[in-house]
Amino acid sequence: MNIANKTVLITGANRGIGRGLVDEALRRGAKRVYAGTRSGLQIADKRVTPLILDVTSASQIQRAVEEVDNLDVLINNAGVAIYDDLSNLDVIEQHLAVNFLGLLKVTNAFLPLLRRSKGAIINNLSLAGLAALPIIPAYSLSKAAAFNLTQSLRALLAGKGVTVHAVVLGPIDTDMNRGFDVPKATVESAAVGIFDGLEKGEDEIFPDPASQSLAEGWRNGALKALERQFAAFVPNSAANLVA
Ligand SMILES: NC(=O)c1ccc[n+]([C@@H]2O[C@H](COP(=O)([O-])OP(=O)(O)OC[C@H]3O[C@@H](n4cnc5c(N)ncnc54)[C@H](OP(=O)(O)O)[C@@H]3O)[C@@H](O)[C@H]2O)c1
Repeated sequence: MNIANKTVLITGANRGIGRGLVDEALRRGAKRVYAGTRSGLQIADKRVTPLILDVTSASQIQRAVEEVDNLDVLINNAGVAIYDDLSNLDVIEQHLAVNFLGLLKVTNAFLPLLRRSKGAIINNLSLAGLAALPIIPAYSLSKAAAFNLTQSLRALLAGKGVTVHAVVLGPIDTDMNRGFDVPKATVESAAVGIFDGLEKGEDEIFPDPASQSLAEGWRNGALKALERQFAAFVPNSAANLVA
């Protein structure tokens, strides 16, 4: 899908990759960009509509849905990453609340609009969801859960014309990994890679050099083949089970 003249909603839009996606969507001629943030966002471009949207808040999600008339692309970008060692369950719950359940709640809330437009869902995930990065294991497991959920949604919504994409991000230069000393791609290049991947209709989008090194192996690999094999168990009517 090409996002020119499309309506896009981005969560966590005030900084980092989310903010880069707002700018890139505008550059590519998006008709409207709903910028979901916890604190409000002022952008001069008239095509941007700010939405107060904490992805863990049922009432804010509901209010956001009421403010959006139509939607072509939902980008689940909001996320948290905290260094941990799996000893504190609160930290694990915090990651799951934002990176997994928050993503699912926002998706379910906007699904009727996406089904109507035959739109797309983009979930910003991580290499750490494919193989655990043990310095952030709680983050890793939340991204693994969100990746798995992305595969199910893809299969369940295929019959409804809604495409579901996983962005497998490597290290990007944002606040999130400020203390992690590895080569990082820019936010701008990641945003370009994400929308390019959407245009090409890629199930998994690998938008930066670190993730790109996995792309070919992933697409031709045993796990992708297994995903397709499992997806074939979904009867056409199963798509009706998803709101
Ligand atoms: N940077 C990387 O290297 C990297 C690698 C792999 C994947 N990713 C993924 O890419 C996405 C964006 O990451 P980033 O690097 O741009 O991170 P970031 O700079 O730390 O920004 C995180 C964004 O998420 C928002 N957020 C956090 N909790 C939220 C909540 N409960 N409700 C709504 N918004 C919330 C933040 O809002 P506030 O300003 O209000 O806190 C902020 O806008 C995340 O899903 C992350 O896991 C990033």
